[in-house]
This record gives sequence, C-alpha cells and structure tokens, in this order.
Amino acid sequence: GQEYRPVSWYPAPLGGTSSSWSESYRKAHDMVDQMNLVEKVGITTGTGWQMGLCVGNTEGVDSVGFPSLCLQDGPLGLRFADNITAFPAGITTGATWNRDLMRARGTSLGREARAKGVNVILGPSMGAMGLMPAGGRNWESFGSDPVLQAVAAAETIQGIQRIGVMATAKHFVLNEQEHFRQPNEWDNEYAISSNIGDRALHEVFVWPFAESVRADVASVMCAYQMVNNSYSCENSKLINGILKDELGFQGFVQSDWLAQRSGVQSALSGLDMSMPGDGLKWADGEALWGPQLTAAALNTSVPMERLNDMVTRIVAAWFHFRQDTWEERGPNFSSWTNEKMGKLHPGSPDDDSREEVNKFVNAQVSPGSKLHSTIARQVAAEGTVLLKNVNNTLPLSRSASRLKGKYRVGVYGEDAGPGKGPNFCADRGCNQGWGSGTVEFPYLVSPWEALESAWSNETVDWSKTCVLFFANSDGGEGFIHSDGIDGDRNDLFLQRNGTNLVEGVARQCGDGRGRTVVVVHSVGPVVLDPWIDLPGVHAVLYANLPGQESGNALIDVLFGDVDASGRLPYTIGRSLEDYGPSAQVLYETDDAVPQANLDEGLYIDYRHFDRHNITPRYEFGFGLSYTTFDLSDLNIHPLQEKSRLPHPRQKSDIEPPTYDDRHDIPEDCLMPKDFKPLSKYIYPYLLTTDGTEKGKYPYPEGYDKKQKPSEAGGGPGGNPSLWEAMLEVSVKITNTGPRAGKEVIQLYVSFPERVVEHRGMSLKQEEIDFPVRVLRNFDKISLEAGESKTVNMTLSRKDLSYWSVRAQNWVLPTEGTFKIWAGRSSRDLPLMVEY
Ligand code: NOJ
Repeated sequence: GQEYRPVSWYPAPLGGTSSSWSESYRKAHDMVDQMNLVEKVGITTGTGWQMGLCVGNTEGVDSVGFPSLCLQDGPLGLRFADNITAFPAGITTGATWNRDLMRARGTSLGREARAKGVNVILGPSMGAMGLMPAGGRNWESFGSDPVLQAVAAAETIQGIQRIGVMATAKHFVLNEQEHFRQPNEWDNEYAISSNIGDRALHEVFVWPFAESVRADVASVMCAYQMVNNSYSCENSKLINGILKDELGFQGFVQSDWLAQRSGVQSALSGLDMSMPGDGLKWADGEALWGPQLTAAALNTSVPMERLNDMVTRIVAAWFHFRQDTWEERGPNFSSWTNEKMGKLHPGSPDDDSREEVNKFVNAQVSPGSKLHSTIARQVAAEGTVLLKNVNNTLPLSRSASRLKGKYRVGVYGEDAGPGKGPNFCADRGCNQGWGSGTVEFPYLVSPWEALESAWSNETVDWSKTCVLFFANSDGGEGFIHSDGIDGDRNDLFLQRNGTNLVEGVARQCGDGRGRTVVVVHSVGPVVLDPWIDLPGVHAVLYANLPGQESGNALIDVLFGDVDASGRLPYTIGRSLEDYGPSAQVLYETDDAVPQANLDEGLYIDYRHFDRHNITPRYEFGFGLSYTTFDLSDLNIHPLQEKSRLPHPRQKSDIEPPTYDDRHDIPEDCLMPKDFKPLSKYIYPYLLTTDGTEKGKYPYPEGYDKKQKPSEAGGGPGGNPSLWEAMLEVSVKITNTGPRAGKEVIQLYVSFPERVVEHRGMSLKQEEIDFPVRVLRNFDKISLEAGESKTVNMTLSRKDLSYWSVRAQNWVLPTEGTFKIWAGRSSRDLPLMVEY
C-alpha cells in the first residue's frame, strides 16, 4: 500500500530574486548570455565518474573564462587528498555544542579546500538527521535534533564560504537509512521511499536546510532515495516548492552520485546539476543529461528557460563566492592516484594523458592562522562526553605521587592502538564511520601513543590498579559492507565482543581492586546497560569519532587540561526499541518500492522518550563536567505581542535574469567533426539530430497552473518575519565547583497545552499534538571557578511556531501558555518560566 503520494509543484522558480544575490546574478547573466547551448549543458552535467581529478567535475567554457568545477567530498575533510587534516566527524562536532569551534572547523575545511583548488565541498551533512540510531551515516552530521543540526550546519557553511569555497547542504532530504537507498547497491529495482507528512517534514527534516539557505549555502545535494514515492532528485514539491520557493534558495541543486533517475522529469522538478554525469549506472558514460539535455532543450521537452536557470544558478554561485578572482584554478591533486604523475581522465580506457596531477600542496596550515590540527584537537576534546565519573575518578593525575603506591595502568581494547593503521581499508571501511565522508588520515595519534608519552616516566602494568578500556561501534555508508554490517548497524551494541570484554575487565578490576575507565569510540548511541552500572566501571568517556588528534584530545580530557564539556547530541537509550517505530531501520522487505513510514519523525530521539515516558540511560544534551554549575534567575523579556502568523510574504521587486531566444539549431550542437572524444566521457554534444525537432511535449500534470508562492517564503530560508525575535531570555550561571570549566545552557520550549485548529467546511475542531518539549537555543559558556555570568539568548517567531498543514504556514499559538525551560540537558531543566 503506497499511501504516500507525491505532490507536484511547477514550474521551477527562477534564481535571481534576492537582493543579496542580485549582483552575482547580473554578472552571471552577462556571462551565460554569451554561451551557446552545448556550453550551457556542459556546465550542468558532470563529465562522468573519474573523468577529472575530483569526485565531481563539470565542463568549463573557455571563451568566457568559466572554469571546469571541482566538487570534492566531504563533511570532515578533503577525501582522496594528501596533506590535509582528518577533522573530527560531524557527530563529534555536534557534541561540542560550541558554535565558535563549529565555525573554526568550517573555516579550516574551507582553507584546505581552497589550497587544493576545490570549488565545491560536498558537505556539511545534516541529513541523515539521525532519526534511526542505527542509521549508517548519522555520524557525518551533527546529532538527532533539528536545531542542533541547523546551528552546526550554518556555522560550518559560514566558515567554509567565508574562504570563498562553496559548501553543499546534503542530503535533501530524509536519507535516514542506507539499506535500499539506491537500486545500484541493493538488490531492489527501486530505492526506498521515506514517507513523511508535511508537518514533520518542516519541523524536523527541512529545518536545518532552511538555516543553511539562510546561511547562504551555495549548493544543495538531493538524496538517493524517494520521498513520498518520488525520487528526491525529481520531487518537484521538495525542490521547486520547498527549497526554491519557500526557502528562497538562490544557489544550485546537484544530485547525489547517481541519485538522478530521470532526465526531463528531474529538470522540470528543479535539479540544476547532474553528478557525476553518468546516468542510471556507474561509469558507463550514458548520461540522463549531457547530449540528452541538449536534445531536450532543442525539442522543448525541457523549456530553454529552465536550462538557462540551471546554468545561471551555477554561474551566479561561482560569482557570489568570488571564485572569478581566484588566480590559480583547478585542483592540484588527484583523487585517483597518490603518484605525482597520472591521468587526467582515468575513467576512460583510452585516456593516455600523463600529467603532474599531484602537487602535494600542504593544506594543513594557512599563513597567519593556526595549524588546523589545533582546531581538530580542540573539537575532539570538547566533543568528548563524560557520562559517568564515580568519586571523581577523572581527571587523572599526571603525577603518580598523588595516588598511594605505584600508579599503574592497563590499556585494553584494539581501538586504543594504531591497529593496522587508520587508512588500512578503503574509505575507512573497517574501523570507523566509513564511506565518502572520510579522508586519508595524514597521521593518527592513537590513544595508546598519547598515553605512553603522557606517562613516559611511569611503569605501565597491564594487570592492576587502573584499567583503560577502549570499545567501539562502527557503521557507515551503504556502498561498503564490513564485518556483517551493511552500512546501517544491526543493533546498538558495542562491536567486536566489546560488551563481554568490558564486563569481564570491569568485574576483574572492580570491587575495590581497581578502577576501570571506559572510552567509547562510536558512530552513534550504544546500549551501555549490560555493564555501565558495574561497580568496577568508574568512569565512561564517549569520544565519538575524534579524527587524527584522537589520542591527544583524549589526554586533554583524561588529565583535565580541558574540562569535560561535551554533551550528547543524541539520546542513549536502554534498547533500540526504546527509540520508537519510526526509528527502526527497514532491513528487509518484499516491496518493489520499500516503504519507510517516518511520520513519527516529529517525535525524533528525546521527543519520543519524553512523549512515552521512557527513561533513557543518558538523555540528549547530557554530559558531566569536572566542575559544577548553578543556574538561576531565568528571565524572559517579550519583545513584541504574540501574533498568529508572520507578516505577509513580501513580493520581491528583483526580477530574475531573462535571455533572448538564441535560436539554437541542432546542427550547431553536433560533435565537431575533427573532435576526438574519449570513450565514456560525457560531452554535451549531439551525435545525431534525431529527436531534436520541436514538438508538443506533455508537461507533467499541474505544470500549466502556476503555483501560488508560499506565504512561508520571501527571504533566505523563508519569510524573514520568522526570524524576528519574540523573546529575550536571560539565565545566570555560576561555576560553583573547584576549577574552570564550560557549561552548555540549553533552552527548551513547551507549546501551550491545548491548541486547536478548525478544519474543513464543518469547521471541525482538531487538537494539535506537540512534543513535550523541543530544543530551541543553546550556548556554551566558559567560567572560572566561582565566576558568574548572565547569558542572553533569543527565541524567534519560528522557534515558537509549529507548521500548520492547514494554513501552510508557521503558526504561533496566541492562546494558552508556553513554558520556556533552561537547563543542562533535555531532562535536567531546573528553571522554567511561563510565557
Ligand atoms: C555518495 C554520497 O551519498 C554523497 O554524500 C557523496 O558526496 C557522493 N557519493 C560523492 O562521493
């Protein structure tokens, strides 16, 4: 039963309607106006898999000075590149709850991309949202809450783009699981459909994309799977309706690699760039666009206006980030070889080029700025969450004298050491979060090495006194299968017998005979119940995926040089079932189009636990510090009267660029006679003029009725009125403990208890259901011992609104009372005021 049907939204809104982009669009127009049809198509279609030095490459247009673009993964550093930094993963970054560090990491990512000649970074990821705790790619993004994702994504984007490199918000949208994500990898004819209602879509899954557009993101990547039974990259409601109309997106939409499943339909639905260019199959050189798009534009099955808009969006984004001022152009590294010399188009069997493809440019440091490893280390340290700390076991002391007797330590768990090296498996496919969101580690400071040097003067004994146990749980992207894990984890337990081993060690070492400190490296939540309460387990550090500075960052926290200030970016439940029905990966199905019904997604993570009164093991937002904080004096200052709706949408007085008809003729689009094509390379040229006659092509249903622009739109990310501050909130925070430290103040909102909408002709009353509370703002505060600070935060109209399916707008309930909560986690909320 495919109950979820796609909604259509046509035609694609034209780019060039926002004042902050108007200059870029003017320049783009002047450039695109000089291009002929095949040149335009070359900009929209990748040249094919491995047909260039980057994971995605487009054609340039020499005559006007527009370069071939290099698109490169990914969210935590530059994939397939040398002399770069392996930053902590998104999930670790989310766990810092530190906006400055998120920004700094983004800036370093941008600098490294710039140094390597990358135009577009394929990150950050904010979808997977983390609805399914076992989902394979949650670690690439920032945690299972829309506001945390949104803040981290926006900071990352602003960091990357201030360097002039374009960022990509991905994956739009609902790529929550890896099983069946695309037909190519799984034994299914069609990809899975993530099914969702309008409200959960807006309030949870689109939310971080809206903030990304507001942060001026250049590109959005549509996802592999279907949404409501229409492929994400040809879902007109999602791309035309939500992204381009409602969120006012001015940049370009690129497909995930082979996520484009149709030529004309994807064009009409708002796709602007096909990646990597090959169509339905990997590396076969058969494109859905390329020559097909050239023909479609000639025969009018894709209107010329749509093609012009695609190209203008891409060129405008390039101008917008001033890449026209780049002196050195093109990548100075190859994704496909580590040798200095190599092929330019290794994907083609008849490419016999041999060039200096790797210049080994060191991107790890930028003049006048910190070494990026410093930032990587800070993020990893602040992203480490202290979950348990009996009798202040941590921080450890460096001097043995503080402890009676000899200070001896045993280090267990293969995860502590360098193992076979961090780069042993391709795309890290056997030892950590794996897939396209990884990099080649330039080095790894393993915990073992870092511990050894920290304790260099001590005797290391393997048996007694103190044990450090390292355990892990891995998963990753669906194209890699490792250790019986097909991307998505099969359960939430520690892997490689971790649960039994920790238990054994804690029983041996516990009970007065010693202390066990457990360090968990993981892609997401792990069920800790079998061992966490054992008396031998004195402390638990959750280090997520720390990147190249793993050991150093651990030492920073273990010895207390850095306060334990990470907070959980997801709930750690007592079982996988506790997360609810929408949170379960669909591992098996007989459906031709596997159906994943995610409507409960509105109650993602802690919202589900709160709603059903399920006690988590450790709740979202939780983490201990080495000091203690007192929160007091929560005050709110309303800045304006409550009103139900945002201001009416302002009509933009900025007109998108238009082009005179060039009267392109098919013969001009044929491959030039003396041209020597490389096999499998995707050129925009026609091989024949067949099928190019102008015809009357049926556009999809609904195409002739122009859609009414959304009232929720009108500015970057949505109606600007949604971001007006409604409330100013202040909280006093005091460090009441013995040392300096950092606390994360978290603001949650409960909506009024009874909110009623009237539906239909009969004005039938319907009560709107709300999560118990939702995170809406946070700040991380650094305090000396004894110090107090007053923290000010605001709540916007959008923060206090829900998405009304009936009104098709954000509605702020004007009757009843909101509760505004301040605290240290989603369940430790000592302060509340009514509003
Ligand atoms: C597929 C992944 O889903 C996407 O995140 C990545 O950017 C592309 N491959 C390119 O590697």
